[in-house]
Amino acid sequence: MSGAEAWVPPNPTLPVLREAVRLCEGCDLRLHATQAVFGQGPRTARMFLIGEQPGNEEDLKGFPFVGPAGRILDQALEAASIDRTSVYLTNVVKHFKFEDRGKRRLHKRPLVTEIRACGPWLEAEVQVVKPRVIVCLGATAAQALFGSAFRVTEKRGMPLEHKWAWHALATIHPSAVLRTRDKQARHAEYSRFVDDLKSAVKLL
Ligand code: URA
Ligand code: SF4
Repeated sequence: MSGAEAWVPPNPTLPVLREAVRLCEGCDLRLHATQAVFGQGPRTARMFLIGEQPGNEEDLKGFPFVGPAGRILDQALEAASIDRTSVYLTNVVKHFKFEDRGKRRLHKRPLVTEIRACGPWLEAEVQVVKPRVIVCLGATAAQALFGSAFRVTEKRGMPLEHKWAWHALATIHPSAVLRTRDKQARHAEYSRFVDDLKSAVKLL
């Protein structure tokens, strides 16, 4: 496991990074995924949202948050009056990790070593965009920035300090809404998610 450093070009632009990530051999996740899924959004974005890793649909289409979790995120952004095209959306890890179950590819959580290996890409994106507010979507993103002891349940929606932005905030991953089976609980989870995004807007 060598890490992505060697593949990240110096003083890059977003298009240069997006091109360069295709060649990355920073960890073994590239071996089974269809393609690297880089972040999406304008260089001028003030809000920078970080998910975990591309899912099945993202892996096939090449863009972040275009599957079921992305649809929840889209709805929630709209409910919080955030224009998706104005924010930068990316993931901690750029290649899809999965378990092959015949017809289906089941999402697998990335390891800490894989998250660390992919870190240089995320850091490069942050350095180009220089966001005001970073929103961590779920524990993987939050722990990548704040350490493995960080608990989203304890700190969600609260203003946090991080060197990469003026402010940061952690909330749940939109897939957690999908996983909540009970209808009422799911609605409550979704509303809190929207509230957290509204709190992020206030930090801009
Ligand atoms: N889940 C993520 O964390 N990121 C995506 O891009 C899609 C689903
Ligand atoms: Fe490189 Fe990240 Fe893909 Fe690993 S997951 S090969 S570090 S882009």
